[in-house]
Amino acid sequence: MSKGFQAIRGMNDILPSEVMVWQHVEQVLKQAAKQYGYEEIRFPVLENTQLFKRTIGNETDIVNKEMYTFTDKNDEGVSLRPEGTAGCVRAGIQRGLLYNQQQRLWYLGPMFRRERPQRGRLRQFHQFGAEYLGVANPRADAELISLAHSIFKALNLLPHLRLEINSLGSQESRKAYNKVLIDYFNSHKSELDEDSLMRLERNNPLRILDSKNPAMKSLIQHAPTTESCMDEISTLHFTRVQEYLAAMNIEYTVNPYLVRGLDYYDHTAFEWISDELGAQGTVCGGGRYNTLVETLGGKPTPAVGFAMGLERLVDLLSQQQSNATLQSADIYCITIGEAAYLYALTLVQEIRQTFPQLTVMINQAEDKLKNQFKQADKSGAELALILGEEECQAGTVTIKELKNRNAEQTAIKATDLLAAIEKKITI
Ligand code: HAM
Repeated sequence: MSKGFQAIRGMNDILPSEVMVWQHVEQVLKQAAKQYGYEEIRFPVLENTQLFKRTIGNETDIVNKEMYTFTDKNDEGVSLRPEGTAGCVRAGIQRGLLYNQQQRLWYLGPMFRRERPQRGRLRQFHQFGAEYLGVANPRADAELISLAHSIFKALNLLPHLRLEINSLGSQESRKAYNKVLIDYFNSHKSELDEDSLMRLERNNPLRILDSKNPAMKSLIQHAPTTESCMDEISTLHFTRVQEYLAAMNIEYTVNPYLVRGLDYYDHTAFEWISDELGAQGTVCGGGRYNTLVETLGGKPTPAVGFAMGLERLVDLLSQQQSNATLQSADIYCITIGEAAYLYALTLVQEIRQTFPQLTVMINQAEDKLKNQFKQADKSGAELALILGEEECQAGTVTIKELKNRNAEQTAIKATDLLAAIEKKITI
């Protein structure tokens, strides 16, 4: 027998049993964004391919080999978004949000990269991103890091993550660093792997630092650091960021080789990393990108931002025991016979309207009584309401506390039902 259609490799279904954790994470993200005064922006999943090439960089893995790109019927090259910053900045420029303004923005949604799937590495994954546009001050960098910190704190994940930061310096410092790195790698050419050689030939030695090939590790560890090329302004900027982090009691380490995998960064770069996720341990990455808005045709606008991968967050959360936040039903309604069912419909509607925060389920499958009780237990409900012919005629409801094995079933008047619910369930 044929197996039927399968999802595309690296593109996951998120099943009802998993979705509760996702909703919990999403709620924490939205709440944190609101607390810090960030506003949501939504932009398309599909954009002009050139937008991503210009933003992320032609020599990056993302643009080079990972984009889902096709030619549209009007011969326009379009790509599924591999990340959010490009679309966010494009929208900001096009819709006039950036001109002489400051914007604190966030977004959440699917991104697409045709990477080799493995744990924590998918072809469709989800990012929560935050971008702070229009402020060059290092205080903005620290605010973003603090926002990420507060999210991890709210999710109880801080003990499982470490923060690494670095500075790439100003564009001038970055250029100088590029040159120093080219000289260094040129003098070790015979030790470079194929990918790195290609990157060196294309004058993009920063990407070599990003190499995951263990054979390159020692060479990278002995490479000159960004610090060696930093100008005074860049050093001051980075010092300030560190002072603000210290003032907020946010722990970090400086990793002088942290350069990030996208080309638009300058000054601060940061990553939150976990050792409990296997090879794909970076849960959140970001940094400053002061020249991107201008590169995309806008007026020069400094900016800083980050994005975190929801799959990796959920993976990390699922490993923690404190995951008992799963939502379940509060009330489960069992009915016997058509008349009782009709009677129950009005009661259930009334409960939902009076207590919108409660989850109220009603058995719709006309299961046998024993089965309905099983379903009620499975739903996790506190209370079962049982309605049969007798209740229907007498205008009563039989209530059973499902989590209390010793509790008796009690019949009450239907008019007393709302009050009884209020008493028995913490609302
Ligand atoms: P990124 O480092 O490419 O940065 O991605 C950010 C996060 O997205 C990663 O740390 C990881 O958690 C998640 N992620 C990336 N690729 C995958 C994948 N294939 N499968 C699962 N999760 C993945 C950016 O995208 C920048 N736009 C961040 C940024 C915003 N910088 C400034 N503003």
